[in-house]
Formats: sequence, C-alpha cells, structure tokens
Amino acid sequence: MSKKRNQPVRGLKGIVAADTAITFVDGQNGKLYHRGYELDELASKVCFEEMVYLLWFGTLPTASQLEDFRSELVAEMRLPNQVWDIIKLAPPNANPMVLLRTVVSALGMFDPDGGKNTEAANIRKARRILAQVATVVAHMNRPKDEPIRSADGRMGFAENFLYLFNGKIPRKLDQDVVNTTLVLHADHGLAASTFAARVTVSTLAGMHSAIAAALASLKGPLHGGANRAVMEMLEEINEPRKVKAYIKGMLQTGQKIMGFGHRVYQTEDPRSKHLRGYSQKLSKKAGTSHLFEISQKIEQEVLEQKGIRPNVDFYSATVQSALGIPKELFTCIFALARTAGWTAHVMEQFNDNRLIRPTSNYTGGFDLKYVPINQR
Ligand code: ACO
Repeated sequence: MSKKRNQPVRGLKGIVAADTAITFVDGQNGKLYHRGYELDELASKVCFEEMVYLLWFGTLPTASQLEDFRSELVAEMRLPNQVWDIIKLAPPNANPMVLLRTVVSALGMFDPDGGKNTEAANIRKARRILAQVATVVAHMNRPKDEPIRSADGRMGFAENFLYLFNGKIPRKLDQDVVNTTLVLHADHGLAASTFAARVTVSTLAGMHSAIAAALASLKGPLHGGANRAVMEMLEEINEPRKVKAYIKGMLQTGQKIMGFGHRVYQTEDPRSKHLRGYSQKLSKKAGTSHLFEISQKIEQEVLEQKGIRPNVDFYSATVQSALGIPKELFTCIFALARTAGWTAHVMEQFNDNRLIRPTSNYTGGFDLKYVPINQR
C-alpha cells in the first residue's frame, strides 16, 4: 500500500513558522533589526537593561522607566536557598550548560508565579529568570572556598554580573565589553533555541519549561556551543603559520569550521564586526594578540577556500577569553544574553498562541501482521 508523501523541508530551511515583531534577520543584506532599530544603531549606545526593555515591551524606556527596571532586575539576582542546595549537589566537572539548564528547571519549582501564565506573571517570571540566570552563571566562576556574593543595588546589570563573576568591581572597559556582548547576543529571530522555547510554551507549559528547552537546544555545537569549540580550535592551531594547512585539512575531510556559516545570513553576520573590533583591542591588552592573528587568518582562509564568513560565535570566543572568562563558560554567557530574547518570544507566543504541531513524512511500512513472540 502506498500513501501520498509531501517532501519535508530539511531543517525547516526557509519555512515561516511564526509572526514576530521582536527581531528581523535580513540575511540577504546582512542586517539585524530589533523592534525596528538596526543593530548598529543600538550596539554601542544601549545598556543591556535598555535592550531587554526594548525586546520585552517594544519601546526604548525613558530614564525613569530604565532606572526602575534596572533596580527591579538587580533585586531579583538572588536564588532560593533550596536551589543553592541543588547547585551544591552538582559534580565538580558538570557541564556548565547542563547545570544551568537543571537549575532553571529547579527554579520553576520555587517560583511564586510558577503555575501562572498571565501577562503580569510572565513579566515577573521573565525578570526573575534573567536575573537568576546571571547569578547562576556568575557563581560558576566563583572559587568554591569563597562565600556567595550578593548583587549590589547601586550597580547596573552587566557591572553586577561581572562583580559576582570575579568578586571585584569591574574595569570600565570590561563592563562596556560585557554590556555590548550581551546586547549583541540578546535576540536573533527564530534560532533553534528560540523555536524550542516557542514550541514548548505553545502547549501552555510555562516559561521555566520553555527556557529549559531553549538552554538544552543552545548547548549544541551547531548553535551556542560553537564559541567554546572555536576556542578549542584556536588553541589547537596555536600558531598563525599553521592556519592554512589546518583549514585545508578540515575542509578536505568534510569537517565544519566552528564559528562559520549561518542558516540565514548570505553575507557577513552584522554582529561579527563589533566583536572583531573588541577582539583586536582586548587581545592586545590581554597579551593574546596571537589568538586574534590566528582568528584573522582563519577568517581569510575559510573565505578563500569555502566562501563562508564568521558568525557571532567566532570572535566572541577571543573576546570572552581576553576578558578572562574560561572557555567552559562561553556558552553560558551566550545563554544569559539570549534569555532576554527567549523570554520576549515566550511572551509573544502566549499573546497569540496556537499549538505548534507540524506533520512528518512517514517513511516506514504498512499492514504488517502481528507475529506472536514465540514464533519470531
Ligand atoms: N564549515 C565548513 N563548511 C560549512 C560550514 C562550516 N562552518 N557551514 C556551512 N558549511 C557548508 C556545508 O558543508 C555545506 O556545503 P556543501 O553544500 O558543499 O555540502 C553548505 O555550507 C551548507 O551548510 P549546511 O550545514 O547545510 O547549512 P545549515 O544552514 O544547515 O547550517 C550551520 C548552518 C549549522 C550554522 C552551519 O553553518 C554550521 O554547522 N556551522 C558551524 C557551527 C557554528 O558555527 N554554529 C553557530 C551558528 S550561529 C549561532 O547559532 C549563534
């Protein structure tokens, strides 16, 4: 018996799966828009809190709205004691993204708005999740013999994050770079992780479930996990003169170069140029200019040999490394930033929800007859 088949679109490439007013990725022209503002217009002008406000509420805040929003956000940068206990149970070598995903799931059990999906409850949950993710990620860098630090209401979000991360008031340059890095990673349309979040809440599961699903998806090296893989590649190459042969070898054996290529961009990823600039400046200051030099050579070789350009993950590796962030935590920093976008998409999905449930093309057989177990 044969049944009519529709050919699936592999990887859903080019499929429009939602209407959104949050972000537009113009892949053809290499432009990125958030709520109507082009990324270049926002990148070095807004602080992360301003960007989050824009993504969640659709407009840039006034000075007093920003001040209120910032203090509400910073006030939520604490975890219930039971969640600290869960964190303490993690093995010392736990994958940081697995730990973060687990902790976000756990936070769902203790959230006072856990079972509520109203607009007001979702805003409160989004604020709490974003603030708590910052605390969890910062904690992962804390030497285990040091006490748990608390956020300081006099500082902004990026500054507080760095303070919790390093245990000291950050330098202005580091604060600015982290701020811009968070802004650059805050949202990117229907990336795999964002789609996972929207699929999850389309069943009316709550925001914590959606963010846990998004974190699970971001972890993979074809998505957010690429920045860590980039650093491993740079360390493996180690010398600029080895780049050409390394890239040739990778491409000849059909391997992907991490931090390159993108499903939507047919030209340069507009986030890359900002990160390239920071990478150059910070690597020089950190005495790791050779890593920037290797990165530039890789960019040149991959373009020449395969015609592919870097994505956001490529230069974010050297930026984060120059800031002293261990490579194991790179993807968690990405996750922190993208929590802003995921939560915005969750709220948008709730506002006009329909269950997301595509169909598949069945490739198995039909009309088989059951054979009793003793006759097989
Ligand atoms: N290195 C080498 N070749 C590549 C790369 C790469 N990084 N990316 C794409 N290609 C090639 C593919 O081999 C394929 O070539 P072919 O037509 O000769 O077979 C062609 O480009 C199309 O690639 P696909 O993998 O089919 O493209 P897709 O849109 O499915 O995948 C993806 C996009 C996953 C980002 C891919 O480019 C990739 O694996 N990149 C490396 C991982 C990475 O950097 N991920 C981060 C993405 S950005 C983000 O998530 C924040």
